Amino acid sequence: MGRLHGKTAIITGATGGIGEATASRFLAEGANVMAVGRSAAKLEALTERLGHAESLATFVAEATDEEATRASTDETVSRFGGLDICFANAGTEGNIAPLDVMTIEAFRSVMETNVVGVWLSMKYAAPAMRERGGGSILVTGSIASKIGFPALAHYIASKHAVHGLVKTAALELGPDNIRVNAIGPGPVDNRMMESIGEQMSPEDVAAFKAQISQTVALGRYATNDEIANLALFLASDESSYMTGSLHLVDGGFTAA
Ligand SMILES: NC(=O)c1ccc[n+]([C@@H]2O[C@H](COP(=O)([O-])OP(=O)(O)OC[C@H]3O[C@@H](n4cnc5c(N)ncnc54)[C@H](OP(=O)(O)O)[C@@H]3O)[C@@H](O)[C@H]2O)c1
Repeated sequence: MGRLHGKTAIITGATGGIGEATASRFLAEGANVMAVGRSAAKLEALTERLGHAESLATFVAEATDEEATRASTDETVSRFGGLDICFANAGTEGNIAPLDVMTIEAFRSVMETNVVGVWLSMKYAAPAMRERGGGSILVTGSIASKIGFPALAHYIASKHAVHGLVKTAALELGPDNIRVNAIGPGPVDNRMMESIGEQMSPEDVAAFKAQISQTVALGRYATNDEIANLALFLASDESSYMTGSLHLVDGGFTAA
């Protein structure tokens, strides 16, 4: 029997690297999955890649839209009968710039998606999980929840805020048997790190990747699947006494 047999999960940012790998892993372990994204075309392509027609559904929602977030949760409950796992994973690196050059629009946009969006997911997942007698809320933090990085003030601030949300939600929801944890990936070999490389080092993206890789104890970026492995563990009952923490999966990046 799968490690998530009988459970229903909602995953935001499902059209991205980590989201798709996690959706695939959850489906393989027996979960029903509501894949949420902001692009109908990307969700359609995702459905074709993932298969599992009986246990996979999709919903188009902008992460910062409260009504759409409420509707995606309602649709999950009506389609699959309840909600056990919420993976608030949608996030953006935004436009990167030193803090005295960054525009207020760029700063606000990252905070809206990465903080307000995560809070909205928690807000609507919690009542549905209470109905079920408990659940697991996961959010995608980052090594940026712990450390600083030049030219990423908005992103670093947003991921530190996510850690604060997780600690507070764990205290509020613990009595309802709802666990709340953050995943903290280091650099992952996907679109987001490619974009950060292009913005930070447009003249030589490969050199940027090589330089960042050298600061990782394991000497390389993570794969999306390596992050999904941790999401699976925290979503499952195997982590039944874990809540309120940031769990790094960073190849030793922050060990230095
Ligand atoms: N990649 C890394 O190295 C790394 C490291 C640490 C933490 N993280 C975090 O991991 C999470 C997933 O990112 P990823 O690495 O999988 O990168 P990704 O491939 O760029 O995926 C990001 C996902 O978030 C969605 N998204 C972004 N803004 C949105 C919005 N306003 N409304 C709805 N959806 C939105 C994207 O949708 P579209 O497909 O439509 O763009 C995509 O599905 C993010 O929270 C990110 O901050 C990533």
